[in-house]
Amino acid sequence: MPAREPRLWAVDTPHTSYVVALDDHDRLHGLHWGPRLTAEQALALLDLPASPFRPVIGREAPLDLSAASAFQYGHTGVQVRFGDGTRDLELEFREASEADDALTLVFADRHYPLEVRTRYRSHPDSDVIERSITLQNNGTEPIEVLRADSATWAVPDLDAPRLSRLHGEWGAETQLTRTPVPYGETVIGSRRGVTSHQANPWITIDDGQATETRGETWSTTLAWSGTWRITVEKDPAGRVAVSAGFGHDPVSISLVAGEVLETPVAAGLYADGGFAGAASAWHEYALAHVLPHPEEDRPVLYNSWEATEFDFTAEDQMRLAERAAAMGCELFVMDDGWFGARVSDRAGLGDWTPNPDRFPDGLGPLIKRVHETGMRFGLWVEPEMVNPDSDLYRAHPDWVYHQPHRRRSEVRQQLVLNLAKPEVAEWMHHWLDDLLSANEIDFLKWDMNRPFTEAGWPGSADPDRLWFDHTRNLYRILDRLRADHPALRIESCSSGGGRVDFGILRRTDQVWTSDNTDALDRIEIQEGFAQVYPARIMGAWVTDSPNPFTRRVIPLDFRFRVAMAGVLAVGGDLRIWSDEELARGAELVADYKRIRPVVQHGRRHPLKAGQAAGVQYDRDDTTVVLAWRHSRRLGYRDPLVKLHGLDLDGRYEDARTGRVHHGAVLATHGLDLDLGPADYASTMIELTRVR
Ligand code: GLA
Repeated sequence: MPAREPRLWAVDTPHTSYVVALDDHDRLHGLHWGPRLTAEQALALLDLPASPFRPVIGREAPLDLSAASAFQYGHTGVQVRFGDGTRDLELEFREASEADDALTLVFADRHYPLEVRTRYRSHPDSDVIERSITLQNNGTEPIEVLRADSATWAVPDLDAPRLSRLHGEWGAETQLTRTPVPYGETVIGSRRGVTSHQANPWITIDDGQATETRGETWSTTLAWSGTWRITVEKDPAGRVAVSAGFGHDPVSISLVAGEVLETPVAAGLYADGGFAGAASAWHEYALAHVLPHPEEDRPVLYNSWEATEFDFTAEDQMRLAERAAAMGCELFVMDDGWFGARVSDRAGLGDWTPNPDRFPDGLGPLIKRVHETGMRFGLWVEPEMVNPDSDLYRAHPDWVYHQPHRRRSEVRQQLVLNLAKPEVAEWMHHWLDDLLSANEIDFLKWDMNRPFTEAGWPGSADPDRLWFDHTRNLYRILDRLRADHPALRIESCSSGGGRVDFGILRRTDQVWTSDNTDALDRIEIQEGFAQVYPARIMGAWVTDSPNPFTRRVIPLDFRFRVAMAGVLAVGGDLRIWSDEELARGAELVADYKRIRPVVQHGRRHPLKAGQAAGVQYDRDDTTVVLAWRHSRRLGYRDPLVKLHGLDLDGRYEDARTGRVHHGAVLATHGLDLDLGPADYASTMIELTRVR
């Protein structure tokens, strides 16, 4: 990305360009985010009549670096307060530098000792652009930072801009909605201390016409696991800008002399292949540039939570492990209830030593026996929490977030530890490191089950810092544990899918998608999840029927085939499954292992045919279709399902029937799913390209 001329820069990806330019007042404008341009074409943007170089007061074109300054009446991505009360910035451009596929533009305030850098990074194999900013206090007095968005993206003019987003709540994560962008500011975010179930830090803008397979999309996501805010602003002229950053109003951070504030990455993607095309580009980016071990297949996991909750002995765990191993599971995870006085959710959280009644000789004997079955061993932890009824809390009542003269509100009888405090972070790293050093633990399910309340830090000079430092210290601990225990793999959980984002995914291997394991509900949750996150991280358990969460009765095959669209796992009480169910489960686990590389590493296409929905995954010469249909309507036959991305001249053999189909016919007319008339029909189809 060479500088085209001194004051205009293009960040190029394989198929796209992002172009910024400075005006006469050194304000940085986003001129282009779309198909790739040549240097000459990019320069021609400066001559457009609608260019931001002819601003009309009150109708300023969106800035790429939107610092508080004169005539900035909309959302402002960079807001500070200097010691004397001055709020406006007057940034002067200093220099541009390029290194490691990244462009950095450096600005400094005309008067105050504040430097602002904005950084754009691209990768040779992805159209995703990673952006962040840094603020540096070069003076001696503190500077209060009120807002430091990682990126503000100017979206091109669109006739009827539409916003896609993911909302939800506990048990109902990643619900996808697409609505017209209203005038003014639309704000989504989290004030909970964690990414949240209520909104996921991803949005997409399109022109209102895009479909799964056609149309341009502009999407962005924030790689941060604490509080955050994405502002989508449509100005009176109808132009849309999207600004994404960490922190929430009215939280601020005081930058002391010499301090540098680095923001998390806000990644952006322009794509021209419809919603599914954009989703695939995000999946490929996650696999190539976010996940720590993308090449690995995630194992089929068994988790004991729904089977036992808090009521178990070591022998119960072992019986579950034996049945899980017989079914073909590869990783046994013992969930909550193994430590301290934690025989219910009322006590013991924070006391991370094995419960002496349940594990008189520690975890060693159980781990050994689980390993003898051939499975790996995983353990649930919730390090950021404490029950007031615990030795930890009795010893350190000041280690939780609290405010003077305010109650300490409990959720599930627990409080949040102040992980921003260095001594809490040190303690947490220490016990986890000890636990992992003393035991052969292959996997941690790292949970975080309640949001912050009364988030205070009495005695701290800069208490709001906790909103940032909690997440930073969490990241540091995860990074250290991973470095010191390289075989360890980690699942991110927060009452289900409350902490799913590209920040946590840089240091974890999979996520717990939702506590709702009802297969019918999961189809929707998984569809929303797949807008940005790949199947390779999407934990999906098969549990009992009726479902513990919804009480819905769903046949075993249907439950499996929905879970097989992600990282298949089993979470039912295998002690009460019939022999037939155990045997059928084993067959379906074996099916999954065959298609696993395609599901976990392939390209995903959503499928729809009448009442049936499904997904297609492609990798090399193999195509896998998983399809589900709750019920038929009015006795109509299911329509054929059109497949995507196939070679139209290719021929594909169906492993079920041995029939060979033409790619052109599968793409234009479709494949017969052959689901039959019954309710809760499902199928798995494997097609292999024949030469
Ligand atoms: C949360 C998780 C569950 C389980 C329980 C244990 O709700 O989402 O999967 O681990 O905690 O208390």
